Amino acid sequence: MIDAHAAFASPHVTRREEYAPPDWMVPEIALDFALDAGATRVKARLDVRRNGAHDAPLRLDGAGQQPLSVSVDGVAVNDWRIEGEQLVVPLSGAAHVVETEVEIAPDRNTQLMGLYASGGNLCTQCEAEGFRRITYFPDRPDVLSRYRVTMTADKARYPVLLANGDPVGAGDLDGGLHWAEWHDPFPKPSYLFALVAGDLAVNRGTFVTRSGREVQLGIWVREQDLPKTAHALDALKTSMAWDERVYGREYDLDVFNIVAVDDFNFGAMENKGLNIFNSRYILADPDTATDYDFDAIAAVVAHEYFHNWSGNRVTCRDWFQLSLKEGFTVYRDQGFSADQGSAAVKRIEDVRGLRAAQFPEDAGPLAHPVRPESYIEISNFYTATIYNKGAELIRMMATILGPLKFRAATDLYFDRFDGTAATCEDYVACMEEAGDVDLSQFRLWYTQAGTPRVSATLEHHAGSGRATLRLAQHVPATPGQPSKSPMVLPLKLRLFGAETGAPLTDEQLILLDETSESVTFETVAERPILSINRGFSAPVVVESDRTAADLAFLARHDDDPFARYEAMQQLMLDTLVAATIEGQADHRAVIDAVADTLANEGLDRAFVAEAVLLPSESFIGDQLSVVDPDAIFAAREALRRDLGRSLAGQWRTAYDLAGDAPYTYSPQAKGLRRLRSVALGYIAASGAEDAATLAFRQFERADNMTDRQAALTTLANGDDAEREAALDIFYNRYADNGLVLDKWFQTQALSARDDTPQAVALLAEHPDFTLANPNRARSLIGAFSVNQRAFHAAGGAGYRFLADQLIALDKLNPQTAAKLLPPLGRWKRFDATRAGLMRAVLERIVAVPGISKDVLEQASKSLEG
Ligand code: TRP
Ligand code: ZN
Repeated sequence: MIDAHAAFASPHVTRREEYAPPDWMVPEIALDFALDAGATRVKARLDVRRNGAHDAPLRLDGAGQQPLSVSVDGVAVNDWRIEGEQLVVPLSGAAHVVETEVEIAPDRNTQLMGLYASGGNLCTQCEAEGFRRITYFPDRPDVLSRYRVTMTADKARYPVLLANGDPVGAGDLDGGLHWAEWHDPFPKPSYLFALVAGDLAVNRGTFVTRSGREVQLGIWVREQDLPKTAHALDALKTSMAWDERVYGREYDLDVFNIVAVDDFNFGAMENKGLNIFNSRYILADPDTATDYDFDAIAAVVAHEYFHNWSGNRVTCRDWFQLSLKEGFTVYRDQGFSADQGSAAVKRIEDVRGLRAAQFPEDAGPLAHPVRPESYIEISNFYTATIYNKGAELIRMMATILGPLKFRAATDLYFDRFDGTAATCEDYVACMEEAGDVDLSQFRLWYTQAGTPRVSATLEHHAGSGRATLRLAQHVPATPGQPSKSPMVLPLKLRLFGAETGAPLTDEQLILLDETSESVTFETVAERPILSINRGFSAPVVVESDRTAADLAFLARHDDDPFARYEAMQQLMLDTLVAATIEGQADHRAVIDAVADTLANEGLDRAFVAEAVLLPSESFIGDQLSVVDPDAIFAAREALRRDLGRSLAGQWRTAYDLAGDAPYTYSPQAKGLRRLRSVALGYIAASGAEDAATLAFRQFERADNMTDRQAALTTLANGDDAEREAALDIFYNRYADNGLVLDKWFQTQALSARDDTPQAVALLAEHPDFTLANPNRARSLIGAFSVNQRAFHAAGGAGYRFLADQLIALDKLNPQTAAKLLPPLGRWKRFDATRAGLMRAVLERIVAVPGISKDVLEQASKSLEG
């Protein structure tokens, strides 16, 4: 209470420019845990070394606990003091042994940071600043230590005791207790510390590394979940082999364990040798997980595994460098996923995600550079900008260098910084050195926020055969950054002939690094059509003078699958924006392009399914000066209905393509299922009389969750009698499966029905709804707040609902509460009435006594705009 109030008065701002090396290093630490859910005793023995010439005392971070004892070199001392939450110990020499003891209460830890209880087991989450909730320590990533961990616990309740590194001993004790000791030979920062104690079963595997080392793999879950771990174990082995092949990175310990827990603030955590996962990214079988879930599991398993090098062996000097490990690791996991199936579809999904989450962030009050300059609460900076835009920065550097030099540059980086805490600058310097390029101007990508806008116009003089492409860039102002410098934009482009459909040039890479530039092409015999930002080579918005006919042409003829998808999206977007503003639009070009795409048998079905999907309501909103949620919804529904009716026969064909073949998990089978789901959506949108019957039949007969959930989603959007029946059947069938119940909540929160706001308010009272579980909170509240029309329904009930839930959640779990806030920060994009209602709830949140600094930072920045 008191601390939160102090934060309200003047929250402490951490600034990048204030970085100073640690006063004391801690090369070795020994931890001794007497584990108990109600009261755990933690003894810590720190070997501390004075770093540089100074006489500063040792300052150890803590949070929530009190020291029970402090000793220096084996002698109890009492000249320590508490300043803020730090334990300050005066020390005279250059090296000492400092021991502390504290008591903590895992079962009262609802923040899920530090040591906490989940499903009767004990586990930890230390990134970013959770270790200080376990013991006193310099809790900053540039203090690297070798850890020795001993755990003692009740053997019946916690038969499994895991920690980082390798197991070095275990045994039984009197009174039903047992102990285990683990030792991690690799120095690591405290945020990578982990332990797990619980009643867990294991799916074991082995992996033999390139150099012949045999690694014992283990996926630890509740006994009854063991049958759902095969996919994750498989993905782990595939990831290990992929990192050896593609980046030359081998695993370095004898064991690699993953534990799944139900209560988790994030997706998963890369703790050295002991990854801890949100169970939604481990558990899967065809009956309970969709194709999307299977893919997400493989991607997150790969992501956390890849952190062993990009994050653990080379870690971050300070939290401003977060994208050093996250942007790079996302880039690595994207490459992995692209290699498992269709690279084009993977790129489409990643760009769609970037546009849905990062572009709005970059355009709003919470915009920040990939390397931020300041923060109040670091957990608020685990954002789409750090992760996904950060990955785009790495991708652009890879594009500029080309594959061979990029690999040489990552080798240099891993080699040079192994065992150290590095910076984004260190990474870029390796790219420059091994790539033999000058990235001085490119570095602006790390410091300037905002999504660059590129305008492209192409002129052709038939007589001279010369074509001139004029490019100009503009980076919009963002909070604290009113004016910007031109950036380096790597744009892949190619020209196609309007008459012949043939390519007129090779693909070229242009580095646009001025405010405006022209590029000239000679001997262009026919009217050229511009294909630009192919593969989404730069994370920018392109504004071109291409007509609907040009876009339709590219949708048919472009040889870059991403550009083809993009042309289709732009055509749809232009049509939907016109329809939103004018109340109607000519749908013909879109209908023809969709018809051709569906009919093109040369295209992979997964690609077709993505290409025929309309842009989301919020993406349409992002194109407008004032978002009109009802008009957008109406325009989009009208186009869906028209597409559904005009192409009725083709949707039926696409729907039937998957046939009745039993479930298999292959890229082909996934593509057919995806197309079937999309087709079902269009059949329902057409108003076809049998749509609900068709959906319900699919719902009942499905032998997998992908088809079942697609049918449920379709029914949940309508008001046929089958709707309630399907929701009830689904609920009853999966009443004891939390992850599937999340889908039940989410599907209703995303419904296109008029009564969704009221339905969501009722669901918040459902006996299965709880704010204590982050997945459940996100499945209802998070999903609702991205359902544009429902959340922004006139009157502001959606805003008040979100604020009420967020304030309640903040008392339990500030980190998760703060992540639900950003939709309220978009008030500037809406009409005055909605903006006023959104601001009113933000004001209310800011005024809540004792509100966390997590939520306070997000809400006050959102108000400032
Ligand atoms: N490093 C983790 C990842 O990207 C992120 C993470 C896991 C996290 N748990 C967290 C971040 C809790 C903040 C708080 O894989
Ligand atoms: Zn990560």
